[in-house]
Amino acid sequence: MNPWVIFLCIFGIIFILFLIFGLPRKKSERKPSIEGLYSAEVAKAFEKMTNFLPFKMLRRRIISELKKYNLNGLLVDLGCGSGNLIVEIAQKYNSIDLIGIDISDEILELAKQRVIQNELNERIKIEIGNVENLPFSDNSIDFIISSLSLHHWANPKIAFKELVRTLKGDGLLMVFDFRRNSRKFFYGLLKFATKMVVPKVLKEINEPLGSLQAGYTAEEIKEILSQINIHSVEIKPFLAWMFISVKKH
Ligand SMILES: C[S@@+](CC[C@H](N)C(=O)[O-])C[C@H]1O[C@@H](n2cnc3c(N)ncnc32)[C@H](O)[C@@H]1O
Repeated sequence: MNPWVIFLCIFGIIFILFLIFGLPRKKSERKPSIEGLYSAEVAKAFEKMTNFLPFKMLRRRIISELKKYNLNGLLVDLGCGSGNLIVEIAQKYNSIDLIGIDISDEILELAKQRVIQNELNERIKIEIGNVENLPFSDNSIDFIISSLSLHHWANPKIAFKELVRTLKGDGLLMVFDFRRNSRKFFYGLLKFATKMVVPKVLKEINEPLGSLQAGYTAEEIKEILSQINIHSVEIKPFLAWMFISVKKH
């Protein structure tokens, strides 16, 4: 075998081992980040970043998590950003109607374009909204998913209350987000990406590192949810992320 291939394989294995088993970060204070992606320039730069491989892999992971459930009825993507995830879910599952909600008009423009380009405007609605005050009646949504948005929310306690209010009795809320107490190695990688790889407009707002620093830990989320009497919760930590599943009853 070509020695370069052997070298790359060994390097790849060491890299993955560091990512999975590396040292955890020291306890660090949470640093809140901006709430919405309000500038058109930032929205476009973010949209480009979502085409990088790690983002694609994350979406694949979320979609494979959804396979466990019998998806039908209405699914809402909260903080849908430029709409990659909601479009991919619609393409995979044709048994559901979908609504994407986001607080930022600028990013929603990109989501609307994506929905039209994929000829999904019959099934996906894109609407402006704040997670703290959603345009839905009580007990009306079957599935709510949210990816990489929680760390932006100004008041997660109010947000979770609102999400659960809109969820049907047998509905499911799945929130996927960074966790601040990730491995040191992953923190280093994001620091490197923020300094060297991402476009200038994202560097200026300290992204994507700022998102990790604004993330919660699983323990903090459990505490927030218990304060609002939500106890049917499962949190699965994974590398620098966590999957939070909440059932109403
Ligand atoms: C990092 S982006 C993630 C977008 C998309 N979910 C993804 O995974 O590619 C976070 C999104 O959450 C939205 N957001 C932040 N705070 C929000 C709030 N309070 N209500 C609704 N959306 C919010 C932002 O505008 C932004 O589009």
